[in-house]
Amino acid sequence: MSDTSRVRHYLQFSDLSADEYAHVFARAAFIKQRFKAYEKHQPLVDRTLALIFEKASTRTRVSFEAGMYQMGGSVVHLTTGDSQLGRAEPIEDSAKVISRMVDLVMIRTFEQTKIEAFAAHSRVPVINGLTNEFHPCQILADIFTFIEHRGSIAGKTVAWVGDGNNMANTWLQASELLGFTVHLSTPSGYEVDQSVAGIRSADSYKVFKDPMDACRGADLVTTDVWTSMGYEAENDARRSAFADWCVDEEMMRVARPDALFMHCLPAHRGEEVQAEVIDGPQSVVWDEAENRLHAQKALMEFMLLGRV
Ligand code: CP
Ligand code: NVA
Repeated sequence: MSDTSRVRHYLQFSDLSADEYAHVFARAAFIKQRFKAYEKHQPLVDRTLALIFEKASTRTRVSFEAGMYQMGGSVVHLTTGDSQLGRAEPIEDSAKVISRMVDLVMIRTFEQTKIEAFAAHSRVPVINGLTNEFHPCQILADIFTFIEHRGSIAGKTVAWVGDGNNMANTWLQASELLGFTVHLSTPSGYEVDQSVAGIRSADSYKVFKDPMDACRGADLVTTDVWTSMGYEAENDARRSAFADWCVDEEMMRVARPDALFMHCLPAHRGEEVQAEVIDGPQSVVWDEAENRLHAQKALMEFMLLGRV
């Protein structure tokens, strides 16, 4: 493919339609079931995925790398430190070169503008593996996990307790697209900015000062670290600002009795979540982490082959 303007990318959650998500979730379920039965599913033989990491990762790297090999393809892994990306080669030049050699690119980086610049010069699809603003692959896996446990997420309520960060922004995009409501509770100064989240209206979310109120009646309670990657200099200020935004058993008690708890991980027990909650009966964090593999295999298949 040589016309860069015709290539479809997955840079934010809103890059796929509700109908396409329904397809990807169905494929993820099929791919997962084959994986569990030790049956081969190799539609991507001879395809190569470049993984570019400018921030640390465990789940994203393992799920994309293992997923691509399992589908018959191969992977090239690059980091800022061991490539020319860390030595100021222009992002546009890197995009032109890398995308002539591989079929698909995943990038984890800082500003969304960086991944957009790469995508604008890429001959092949680019997937967002986390930026400061968004983490669409995680929400893809989270919603797939919700569907597995509770059925459709449409009409349900998701309580977000904590930072107005990349995860919160992506939940908001998903709520607008898939028809559920987000109850947001963030400390003052760490609110979600609707324009950064990239949503059209405030219809799909409600803001609560008190995290207990956000959790009341929720079908899913979720949170994330107080300090995201790239914001480490703010650690001390965040520690005091976020002290009351720890998901505890009391918050889970006011949610629906069958509410699930999710966390994208890595987690800090005793900070954003009590150990009793993340290690308790309502937590589905291990299914959620595993589902990164199955959901992203379905996503890569869709990006490279379309609807199969
Ligand atoms: N949740 C997530 O993206 O984890 P990693 O940072 O380990 O990739
Ligand atoms: N919000 C976190 C998510 C880590 C997977 C971060 O950006 O560091």
